[in-house]
Amino acid sequence: MNQYLSEYKGKSILITGGAGCIGSSLTKALIKAEVAKIIILDDLSAAERWNIPTATNVVFIQGSVLDEEVLKRAFSDRLDFVFHLAAHFANQNSVDNPETDLMVNGLGILKVLQYSHLSGVGKFVFAVFLLTAFSRPY
Ligand SMILES: NC(=O)c1ccc[n+]([C@@H]2O[C@H](COP(=O)([O-])OP(=O)(O)OC[C@H]3O[C@@H](n4cnc5c(N)ncnc54)[C@H](O)[C@@H]3O)[C@@H](O)[C@H]2O)c1
Repeated sequence: MNQYLSEYKGKSILITGGAGCIGSSLTKALIKAEVAKIIILDDLSAAERWNIPTATNVVFIQGSVLDEEVLKRAFSDRLDFVFHLAAHFANQNSVDNPETDLMVNGLGILKVLQYSHLSGVGKFVFAVFLLTAFSRPY
């Protein structure tokens, strides 16, 4: 096992957006790293359930990072790592749906950070793709 993956052996990990492109690949890698448990939280707004890797230590919670009840369930276990990958992702999608974009990408990360802080998560990792466009307001 490579030295980076060995850090995760025996750990409990939450992946928001775990059904998506990066999250599902990450899940596959973590299964090989012999983690204790992976909780995937995804509302399936941009992914299909079949994309979630299956293993006895993978638990799927369908719901939004904006939903307090869903977050309480996801954080009810002691977690060592949180990977926050839930996102409203796709540039034109963001332009067409700016309020959803702000809620999921803005309020979403704030809520997941707050829960991570309150439940004493060891490490929080997130990915961001920042596009700054200079154009006439529509
Ligand atoms: N794919 C890339 O090349 C790339 C590069 C750099 C950064 N990133 C960033 O990494 C993150 C993940 O990218 P990806 O390619 O896996 O995107 P993706 O669209 O494949 O995955 C995002 C996941 O988030 C889920 N989701 C959306 N709204 C949600 C909500 N409210 N609650 C719970 N789940 C929700 C979707 O259903 C989807 O499964 C994004 O922030 C993206 O900007 C991606």
